Amino acid sequence: MADPVTTQWSIPGTSISVRNRTVLAAMTNKQSHEDGTLSDEEISWLLRRAEGGFGIVTTAASHVHPSGKSWEGEMGVWGDHHVPRLEELATGIRSNGALSLVQIFHGGLRAPRSLTGMQPVSASKNLENGVEEECRALSEDEILELVSSFGEAAERCERAGFDGIEIHGAHGYLICQFLGSRTNRRVDRWGGDLEGRSLFLREVISEVRNRTSERFLVCVRISPEHEVGVTLAESLELSKMMGGWGVDMIHISCWDAFKGPRGEDDPRTITRIFRDELGADAGIISTGSVWDASDAQFVIDEGADMVGVARVAIAHSEWASKLNDAGYSPERPPFTPEHLISQGLSQVFVDYMRRWQGFVTDGRSE
Ligand SMILES: Cc1cc2nc3c(=O)[nH]c(=O)nc-3n(C[C@H](O)[C@H](O)[C@H](O)COP(=O)(O)O)c2cc1C
Repeated sequence: MADPVTTQWSIPGTSISVRNRTVLAAMTNKQSHEDGTLSDEEISWLLRRAEGGFGIVTTAASHVHPSGKSWEGEMGVWGDHHVPRLEELATGIRSNGALSLVQIFHGGLRAPRSLTGMQPVSASKNLENGVEEECRALSEDEILELVSSFGEAAERCERAGFDGIEIHGAHGYLICQFLGSRTNRRVDRWGGDLEGRSLFLREVISEVRNRTSERFLVCVRISPEHEVGVTLAESLELSKMMGGWGVDMIHISCWDAFKGPRGEDDPRTITRIFRDELGADAGIISTGSVWDASDAQFVIDEGADMVGVARVAIAHSEWASKLNDAGYSPERPPFTPEHLISQGLSQVFVDYMRRWQGFVTDGRSE
């Protein structure tokens, strides 16, 4: 049996201590200003979760370059004008006892011209259902420029006082588009086998490491399996490689942490497979469909160092502190808009949550 989820512990390979094993996973909430600066509402929603006892608080996905913005109200970390409000957030999270991470990303083919004023870019030319137009393949120079943008963004986050960053390599955005064999059909050094397709991520990690101090946490979020052409076998191989690239923790985005891999006859959960394959020393965060205290403990018992949650923390700002009661079983959706507002969401965020099936009483039901 693993430690209780409420136990204080240290991130492997560092002297950085975390008050428990909970992570507020990155959540887009559409509350940032047009130029990517944080709004009062976005700061206060995150601070409520830091007050609510989370070990790590992660921000929403934030674009590292103006060409990478995927939706309105998205947080940005591409310019120095973002720093003062980032500082307010980082200071507030720290004073509430949590560690802070900014999730940094680029939307790639999912960053529409209507938001960026530019044709979307990716590893290769692609057209995906639901996107406005075909993207074009990045040139070598443009790839190097984006690698620098990730590094500069991380440097800005450290300057603002954050404990680290989470590089968003999951969910089909630019890094995932490079990793995927369907979306990356390049024949130069940035494509081909896993080593080639992961070169962009490797260079991003190296640039971030070069521009930040040793103490700065570098986490990477991946989708263990994804339709862009990411397979479980390659994700495991990549994660082993990342151990040698200076990554502190790998965050596996499972969507359902109780299930095994798709289409494979393996009775183990994805978390268990990662722990078995990566060995005891790897730092692993696992997230997906955790709701009550026993769910959270299950994910830790399956071998994760930390358990991430998203939806339950929207509705229950003090979720992490309440885990002290091992029988804690918070109410489930749908929630009334009034309840969500009482938990620190703005009207804009509540409207966004109406689009998540079954979450808000007057939102989308199917
Ligand atoms: C409103 C909302 C916004 C999200 N935005 C992001 C995001 O910006 N970056 C990301 O990596 N995942 C994002 N996710 C996925 C969550 O981090 C999480 O992996 C997923 O919701 C499964 O966890 P849960 O079952 O606890 O909600 C989002 C999820 C929700 C509900």
